[in-house]
Formats: sequence, structure tokens, C-alpha cells
Amino acid sequence: METMKRTATCGELRADRAGQTVVLNGWVHRKRDHGGITFINLRDRYGVTQVVVDTKTSAVTAPDVTAPDLDAVAAELRNEYCIAVEGIVRLRPEEMANPSMPTGAVEALATKIVILNRSEPLPFQIDETINAGEDLRLTYRYLDMRSEHMQRRIKLRSDVTFAAREFMISQGFYEIETPTFIKPTPEGARDYLVPSRLYAGKFYALPQSPQLYKQLLMAGGFDKYFQIARCYRDEDSRGDRQPEFTQIDIEMSFVSRDDILSITERLMGHIFMKTLAIALPERFKRLTWEEAQEKYGGDKPDLRFGMELRDFAPYVEAGGFQAFKDALAKGGGVKALVARGGADYSRKRIEELEAHAKIYKAKGMAWMKVAGNAGRGATLEGGVAKFFTANAGDIITGLDAAAGDLILVVADEKRNIANTALGAVRAKLGKDLRLADPRAFEFVWIVDFPLFEFNEETNRWEAAHHLFSHPQEQYHDILERDPGAVRGDLYDLVLNGCELASGSIRVHNPELQKRIFSIAGIPPEEAERKFGFLTNAFKYGAPPHGGIAPGLDRLVMLMAGETSIKEVIAFPKNSFAASPMDDCPCEVEQKQLDELHVIVRAP
Ligand code: AMO
Repeated sequence: METMKRTATCGELRADRAGQTVVLNGWVHRKRDHGGITFINLRDRYGVTQVVVDTKTSAVTAPDVTAPDLDAVAAELRNEYCIAVEGIVRLRPEEMANPSMPTGAVEALATKIVILNRSEPLPFQIDETINAGEDLRLTYRYLDMRSEHMQRRIKLRSDVTFAAREFMISQGFYEIETPTFIKPTPEGARDYLVPSRLYAGKFYALPQSPQLYKQLLMAGGFDKYFQIARCYRDEDSRGDRQPEFTQIDIEMSFVSRDDILSITERLMGHIFMKTLAIALPERFKRLTWEEAQEKYGGDKPDLRFGMELRDFAPYVEAGGFQAFKDALAKGGGVKALVARGGADYSRKRIEELEAHAKIYKAKGMAWMKVAGNAGRGATLEGGVAKFFTANAGDIITGLDAAAGDLILVVADEKRNIANTALGAVRAKLGKDLRLADPRAFEFVWIVDFPLFEFNEETNRWEAAHHLFSHPQEQYHDILERDPGAVRGDLYDLVLNGCELASGSIRVHNPELQKRIFSIAGIPPEEAERKFGFLTNAFKYGAPPHGGIAPGLDRLVMLMAGETSIKEVIAFPKNSFAASPMDDCPCEVEQKQLDELHVIVRAP
């Protein structure tokens, strides 16, 4: 097939190129016939240029144009035909210029068109892919990707990845690859396993993260490491989770927590400035885990809006509501949330909010409306207000409430349930009322996490982050005695209510590491079998070290204003961990199974 080599992209032609002959290659985005003149919007990844097929005019300007041939090709063109166009750039008449198109001042008068490849009728129109169902989009991902929507996101991802590399290298980090066939690294999800052909009955695991290997790199003396690392976790899909995803994985030796926070802040600053021209604050806000629970009811607060949880305990004694008193008597908590302007919510709407709180284990949610106006003094009405007539004034002032507001209260004998449930209501109200500015980026560090969490199901203490995080020095004496009280050198970076990164200072002392395995109920033999290679390495002068791993997919998702990481991954899996395009996962041939010593049980 005859090809014409491209000399310009569909995004670059401007008025100053008028008069030049160019060759464009791209796809027919749209075609319009206007009685003998055909307009083609030709698209490539750089933009769209209008091509005009007007053989009467072009024959005058370019004598070698064979009008019948050109007309015949133009007539044949359909959407998404891949073509090469030779044409003369000319200014569009003023009334025809399109200021909303970067190339809108010009058009290319076609002198020759070659069809590079034809297209069958499309399963969906290219710039309407967003309305096609997820499985259709993923089945035809190569078409979905041609949309401006996907083109922009994939470009942003490439830009962000480049900016990350550029910054890390400029700071003296080495980019080092770690293996993808590994011994399992526990990050709390199920492993994807790869059966070994050479060793019957043995398996490699795909890394849930490069965690242990990056620590071994520290033992190996590479004191500043990073990697754009693929990670694999067999866990249920969600908007911000995929079975395979990418981290900007970082580890450093001879550092304190603040060094890691600072390098991460500067990394984010560089990425946002380079790719979105947005200046981030030099230092991000910090909240302790405890503060985050108390003020926002969780460790992933969206700080784009306020509406902090308040302590209602000071008002319980003077009031007459028994359920609140009982919760406090049992050592629990009573927390309040002021929904601004919520006094006109219907009973049904309040019940919906209560139902939401109950998903998070609240037994109920009490409410009161603030009535009256500022001048005449506000009062409490409805719900449990009748129990608080005596101290209504104190409550309204103490909670900074005003006439027209709705006060929501959750009491529970477990303080964290009161916090979590009300925190969930706060998040729901934030979403329903669109309290968050969609263009804002609010970063916050959550620090001082508990090192261990008690798992009620297994009746065991488990590592809250992973087993290799360092307990803060002042808790070393009470590790075994009171694991629940131990705070770790752990930190999460949260952006707009989404966990963007997690990290910690690590344990580098083999004895301390053994104590942590033991508290987490891992017997010495099991610890030796699973992690012996790490603890052994620590016997040879391993340096103190720590690190962090921002999720690249989540970062790009938030930067693009999306709520699903699928929108920023070229070939994501669907919600059921499958790829409808290539029908993966799929069955394999018996011969392969035999070689791998694998027997498949009938499902
Ligand atoms: P963690 O497990 O918290 O920490 O993961 C770090 C970050 O990776 C991203 N992430 C995911 N993104 C998409 N899909 C998933 N299934 C998924 N799981 C995690 C998140 C998360 O904050 N080795 C430690 C880091 C360290 O301690 O240095 C780790 O992997 O953005």
C-alpha cells in the first residue's frame, strides 16, 4: 500500500503555516458532505485538523490533482478510517474559523488522500465512549483510548511518571528494579501465585509490593532507592483498587520520619508544578491518627471542607437523655456533627443519614434542629431536643451551631464507633452537598498510627501497616504488655479523602523484629521460614532505614479529577478482575498444566 510519510501532526498547524504543503496521518473523526465539498476532521493524538476536499479549487492550485480519484476516495471514507492526506494549508475565511479548536484558524485543502486502513462500523462513537458500558469500553479499549478523555489521562500519567523519575534522580536516588517472581511479601492481601515448572509443588508469588527487597537494598548499601513498581494483590476491586497497580516506591537509609515526609512533599510539589502548573504548599498539614479519628472519624479525612466532629460529652450530664449517659458510663463516647443549613431536612432524609451511620455499626443517630434567629436567640427543636432544653444555649454556642443547622449525635460505648459512624455521615454529607471544591487538592499527613490492630475474628494482634514498621522508641518497653497502646513510626499521605501513600520507619534490629513477629502470633520457625532472608540480612550491620510508597494510579486519578483508577490505566481489569478484551484469565492447555505439575479441580 502506498503511504505518505507524515510531515505535520493534526495538532500543530497554525496561521503561519498557510501556503505550505503538508502530509497529515490520522483517523477520520467526522465527515460532512456539503454538495461537492467534503469536510473531514482528521484526528491524531496531537489534535484535530480540518481537511477540505474541494477538487474544483484544488485542481486550480495544484495542477497534478486527479479530481475523480480524489472525489472517489473522499466518498469512500467512513469514521475511523486511517488515512494519509497531502494538502495545502490555507487560512479559513474569518466566519469559518473555529476559535475553540487550536488549529481552528486553518484547514488543509486536500491534494491527495491515501487510505491506510479501513474501519468496520464502530461499537461506539469515539468521543462518546464515556457513555458506553464499562465492559464494552474495556473490550474495545484500543478504540476507547482514541477518545480525547483517555488520550488526556494517559498523557497525564506519562507526564507524572516522568516528573517523578526526574525529581527522584535529581535528588540522588537510584532507580533499581526488584524481581516480580518472589517469595511472598505480606501486605495484607492474597498473593497471586506462579507455579514453578522446575520445582514441582513450589510457587513464586507476584509481589504485593517490593517491601522486603527495598529493605534488602538498604542492607546492600544503596541508601536512596526508588522504583516505578508494579504490585499485585488479589483483593476485591473498588474504584481506587486494581489487582495490578503501580507505586512510586521509595526507601532511604539514615533518615528520620521527617526526612521521608519532606522528600515526599517535594516530590508531590514537583509533579504538580511540572504537570498541572499548580503550586502546592511546601509542607502539608499533619494530624495524628488520634486527631484524625476525633475530628473526622477516620484516617482518610477529606479536608476540602470543614464540618469537624465535636465532643458532645460536656452536654450529656445536664441533659436527660439516658442512652448518651449510658454510653459515657461504659467508657464510650458521644460525638456531634453540625450539618449547616440542615434544619430543613425531611424526616426521610435524616433517616437516610441514620441508616448510613448504622452501616458503620452505630446503634442509632439522634438529631436536633436549631430554630429561631440570631437576634432573638436560637433554640433546639425536634428529635431529642426536649431532653436538652436546660442547656440548649450552651450546646448551640459550644458546637458553633446557628439557626437553620441540624445537629446529629452518635453515642456508643465504643468511642471509635461513634467517631467512625459520624465520620461516614460527614463524608456522605460532603458528597451529597458537594461541599468539596472539585479543583482543590488538600494533602494531609496522618502520623502516629497504632502499630498493632486487634483482629476480633482471629483473636490476634496484627500489624496495622506491615510487620516491618518501627514502634516509636518510648513504647519499646510495653510492646508485649500493651500492644494496643503502641504507636508506630507510621505515616499515610491522604489527598482529598483518599489514601495516596503509606510508609514507615522500619525495624532494623533483628531482636526487635523477632518480638514483633511474636506479638503478631508468628511462631519463630514460621518467621524464619518466611522472613529469615530479611532478618539474616539485618545481622550484618543493616542501616536504620525507612520509606514510603505513593500509589501512582491513585495520584493520577485524583489529579485528573476521576473517582476510578481504571480511567488512568491503559489496560485495567474490570470490576471482576478480568480483562474482557483478551478474555483473561483463561483456561490453559493440559500440556502446560502437566508441565507445571498442576491439577485443576472441577469448579
Ligand atoms: P500500602 O499497602 O499501603 O503500602 O500501599 C501503598 C499505596 O499503594 C496504593 N495501593 C493501591 N493502588 C491501587 N490498587 C490497589 N489494590 C492498591 N493497594 C495499594 C495506595 C497505597 O497508599 N510497602 C508498603 C509501603 C511502605 O511501607 O513503604 C505498601 O505497599 O496508594
